[in-house]
Amino acid sequence: MSKSIWLTDEMKSFSPIQDNLESDVVIIGGGITGILSAYLLSNEGMRVVLVERDRLFHHTTGHTTAKLTAQHALIYNELIGHFGLENAQKYYQSQVEAIQFVRELTNKLQISCQLEQQDAILYTNDDKNKQKFEQEATAYQQLNIKGEMQNSIPFEIPHKCGLSMAQQAQFHPVEFLRTIVEKLIENNVKIYEETTAVDIDYGNKTIVRTAHNLDISADHVIVATQFPFYEGQAFYSTRMYPSRSYVLGITTNQPYPGGMYLDIDQPKRSIRTVQHENETIWLVGGEAHKTGQYDKENTTPYHDLENFCSQYLHVKDWKYQWSAQDFSTLDKVPYIGSINKQHPNVYVATGYRKWGMTNSIVAAHILSDSIMQRDNPYKELFKPQRFHADPDIKKFISYNSNVTKEFVTGKLNVDENNKLEPETATKMKVDGQIVGVFKDKDHKIHAVDTTCTHLGCECNWNNAEKTWDCPCHGSRFNYDGKIIEGPATKNLKQVDI
Ligand SMILES: Cc1cc2nc3c(=O)[nH]c(=O)nc-3n(C[C@H](O)[C@H](O)[C@H](O)COP(=O)(O)OP(=O)(O)OC[C@H]3O[C@@H](n4cnc5c(N)ncnc54)[C@H](O)[C@@H]3O)c2cc1C
Ligand code: FES
Repeated sequence: MSKSIWLTDEMKSFSPIQDNLESDVVIIGGGITGILSAYLLSNEGMRVVLVERDRLFHHTTGHTTAKLTAQHALIYNELIGHFGLENAQKYYQSQVEAIQFVRELTNKLQISCQLEQQDAILYTNDDKNKQKFEQEATAYQQLNIKGEMQNSIPFEIPHKCGLSMAQQAQFHPVEFLRTIVEKLIENNVKIYEETTAVDIDYGNKTIVRTAHNLDISADHVIVATQFPFYEGQAFYSTRMYPSRSYVLGITTNQPYPGGMYLDIDQPKRSIRTVQHENETIWLVGGEAHKTGQYDKENTTPYHDLENFCSQYLHVKDWKYQWSAQDFSTLDKVPYIGSINKQHPNVYVATGYRKWGMTNSIVAAHILSDSIMQRDNPYKELFKPQRFHADPDIKKFISYNSNVTKEFVTGKLNVDENNKLEPETATKMKVDGQIVGVFKDKDHKIHAVDTTCTHLGCECNWNNAEKTWDCPCHGSRFNYDGKIIEGPATKNLKQVDI
């Protein structure tokens, strides 16, 4: 089965950085956040450099499900409770404007990206959640959101009730962004792929150091790498957590009734369709778990999703499967703005909680307005330095103790019998040292020190993707220790056994 439906082989590539550079703005991260920030700033006449560790949109942006909606699961009743009615209204309004931005840009640049209007629908099969749906529907009324409770959804999937939000949208994110990248080239944005930023230093200008030992100096730096590879001593590692989700692309023997669906029970399920090579492909997502902490035995997230599809969706053919991750902040609102008080010219945009198609657009606008010294109505709400004590503290403590545990206990999860089937991995003691060992299909052994090169947590094996995943801040490595995603910037150490 192929990987993500959105990515194709014939995408334009860009060479790695070759010289030291100087610019007005350097943007690190070539996902939707980085690309749209580069677009807005280069339209303002700023000289922009965009660096990407791998290839443009090949990480979460190329593995999303690309619903463009303000219906971010059950959120508005909670936002009103924690942030007040005015801020909840602002959150909603920022997402509505983001969807409108895609509509207008698609129209203006004549982008062919399957942008279409769809209602978004939440559903639950748990009686206990019915009350939460009713509270959320009341919040919709308070915020003038068009939507209503539904008695049923048009699938055989067990459910008790639904809640719709009208006139949302879906699109093909990579087709959309490819046109924007052409505009970046026209705007003389300098784009470098396979270029990893490893540190930020401060002098007359701010300096981004790269793994090539070449530097980029700039007046402003945007860190759009999901988890910030550079934290500026602002403790993002204790304020965010990564969650991984899985997606299947299938064809079915039933017509699609329209709409974009999300089950809010555990395990969550997401459904939408996309037209691809003259077929209607259903994208069915779910099985989310904290990265590096999948604890079901004798199954994988893909198997469980397949079982769900077989049971309820009349599957004709299995076409695609992929997985990706995103980060949540402790109060569920992204961190967008200056990374810390000392360095207001270095910005982050992260913690989209799997709603980054719209939140990235909110971020691109807040950050470009900040750099252009313009006001933005949403700046304060998303400011990373905000502190809302009551909802955060309990989660802060419980999540933090979970991370602390991962620093220590992962090492104890050792297979003492040293029995290993092909295509599986385990941890073994080799000369007293704990080593992660993968046996490939040709019985070749690949051994690595599973201590994460970011802050030293112990990585765990992800059997669905054959990767070593770090439970603390989501760095991932292949079975040879090569880094797949950060915040780590170095590979795991290979061990010779
Ligand atoms: C399974 C799944 C489904 C989702 N579905 C939806 C949806 O339906 N609707 C929605 O709104 N949102 C959805 N999301 C969320 C959305 O896809 C993400 O929030 C969004 O794509 C994040 O974009 P980004 O640009 O911030 O990050 P990314 O796309 O991950 O881009 C960050 C880039 O930074 C690069 N990078 C990292 N470190 C460095 C470094 N040190 N130097 C240089 N480059 C670096 C990475 O290689 C990467 O390309 C989903 C997420 C997942 C996981
Ligand atoms: S990602 Fe931070 S310690 Fe591994």
